[in-house]
Amino acid sequence: MSSPSPHPVAAIILAAGRGTRMKSDRHKVLHPIAGRPMLAHLLATIETLAPARRVVVVGSGREQVEAAVAGQGVIVAVQEPQLGTGHAVQQAQAALTGFAGDVLILYGDVPLVSAETMTRMLDRLHGDDAPAVVVLAFRPDDALRYGRVIAEDGIVARIVEYQDAGAAERAVPLCNSGLMAVRSDALWALLDQIGSDNAAGEYYLTDIVALAERAAVVETAPEEVAGINSRGELAAVEAGWQAARRERAMAEGVTLVAPETVWFAHDTVLGRDVTVEPHVVFGPGVTVADAVTIRAFSHLEGATIGRGAEVGPYARLRPGAVIGESAKVGNFVEIKQAVLGAGAKVNHLSYIGDAVIGAKANLGAGTITCNYDGFTKSKTVVGAGAFVGSNSALVAPVTIGDGAIVGAGSVVTRDVEPDALALARGRQTVIGGWAARFRMGKAAKKA
Ligand code: UD1
Ligand code: MG
Repeated sequence: MSSPSPHPVAAIILAAGRGTRMKSDRHKVLHPIAGRPMLAHLLATIETLAPARRVVVVGSGREQVEAAVAGQGVIVAVQEPQLGTGHAVQQAQAALTGFAGDVLILYGDVPLVSAETMTRMLDRLHGDDAPAVVVLAFRPDDALRYGRVIAEDGIVARIVEYQDAGAAERAVPLCNSGLMAVRSDALWALLDQIGSDNAAGEYYLTDIVALAERAAVVETAPEEVAGINSRGELAAVEAGWQAARRERAMAEGVTLVAPETVWFAHDTVLGRDVTVEPHVVFGPGVTVADAVTIRAFSHLEGATIGRGAEVGPYARLRPGAVIGESAKVGNFVEIKQAVLGAGAKVNHLSYIGDAVIGAKANLGAGTITCNYDGFTKSKTVVGAGAFVGSNSALVAPVTIGDGAIVGAGSVVTRDVEPDALALARGRQTVIGGWAARFRMGKAAKKA
């Protein structure tokens, strides 16, 4: 973990681009990676630098971005029309009035830049030769249409956009990520000097490099600055994130039987000696204690799983599921907003919602909590050590006392006192010989 920079930091996140290639009604920076919007990834990383101000520059779809950052103290600046990256940064100037320090310029569609890299950029700004601008560059296998960084000994002469570059410049392997750190006392004056006399007719942020007294370059790995412009690139960045997270899980003592089939969320917490079988999906908000086994094809979201519990195969844990120590949740069981006590078992084909299930209670196959009447949700309580027979419907609100037994096939609509037996089903009738007589009668008619 990097420590905050000793100098005040402000962050500007550029997100005014139209994101046409996503072909989406959702703003590009709100598409999720690991279950969290790209923009939220960036804001979370920036947070570790204790920034004085954070500004997001948006164009179209700004209502969506405003709603996404509401209440977080993030300033939303508007760039309309979009006249280039330099023009975009200028739109943040008003929001940074009175701010003196380092300005980190980030792209909303480059969401996984690490705090460590940001810190390297900021630290370089305060190196011996104190450059006014620090450019984050990378060396991809294929330099494509990235801007080229013309540098010598770590000092940048200029950045040339691909469409403005000649053959010699296009041959330069060092590419501009677009991300920069700039001292605020230089930034606004430099931006005032840039024009739009170039191939794109845009105000290029990159032009401040040649105008600055000194600009330095910091390099990073291509994966870290991979931008997202299409659904394909979104999937590629997701895949990279997942691969890294799986490695980390295994390094921390988690067995992944088939790592490439397991999907984590940005906030998944896993204990030691957890085993995750193939094809398990972790949505946001899952915490798994030590020695838990999650069997194949389970889907978990907003769930907390206690030590030694077993979940799946084919289990679905929805938000608010709290699985106690050594409890068992078996196949085709859905649990939502329910607490399962230590050692409790729900092994087959059940829906348990809005419920509290006591320690060591056993819910038989096909037990269903009827928690919703079409208008309100009601609660089911099953006491410790209670036993609910198979195919029972517990019509909430209802309480089954500690140690009570519910006969199989019951529809329980009234509370059951502790240690009682509840039978709530049609009484069985047996008529001796009826079936044989029935068959004989039918056969006689046919003949
Ligand atoms: C930019 C860089 C290029 C670099 C590349 C890396 C410039 C002039 N060029 O090129 O050197 O290699 O990124 O991907 O900076 N944006 C706005 N308002 C605008 C234009 C862009 O907010 O008017 C935002 C976009 O939403 C995006 C970022 O700035 O997040 C980059 O824009 P993009 O159009 O992708 O820049 P490139 O032309 O690819
Ligand atoms: Mg681009």
